[in-house]
Amino acid sequence: MELEYLCKITELNQNDIFSKHSNLFSKNIILIRRNGKLYAWLDACPHYENGPAMALKKDQYLSPDQQFLMCFGHGAKFDIATGLCVHGPCLGKKLTPIYFEIISDEIFLYKETIK
Ligand code: FES
Repeated sequence: MELEYLCKITELNQNDIFSKHSNLFSKNIILIRRNGKLYAWLDACPHYENGPAMALKKDQYLSPDQQFLMCFGHGAKFDIATGLCVHGPCLGKKLTPIYFEIISDEIFLYKETIK
């Protein structure tokens, strides 16, 4: 199984959100911590087939109320825990979840995605 080192867990900033490019997935991976749980999503908006990146600036993935991941293309909002689009043009579609493992405070990604 192919693994890729992404970052140290301490790289998540005070907002508990961090993104970094993955060579395995050829896109950014969004890491977000909420209620003590860590989630990893592919930075690829399901509004379009090719999954455009969602942030205007690095790590600006949160809605103004900080409650959702948000695509700044057309304002889609996604549930942080499930990746489900709950508002916007891709309502009902989901972000792509990424398998990861934490080994000695370092985050590694798996090649496979969760279906
Ligand atoms: S590209 Fe994300 S909402 Fe349109």
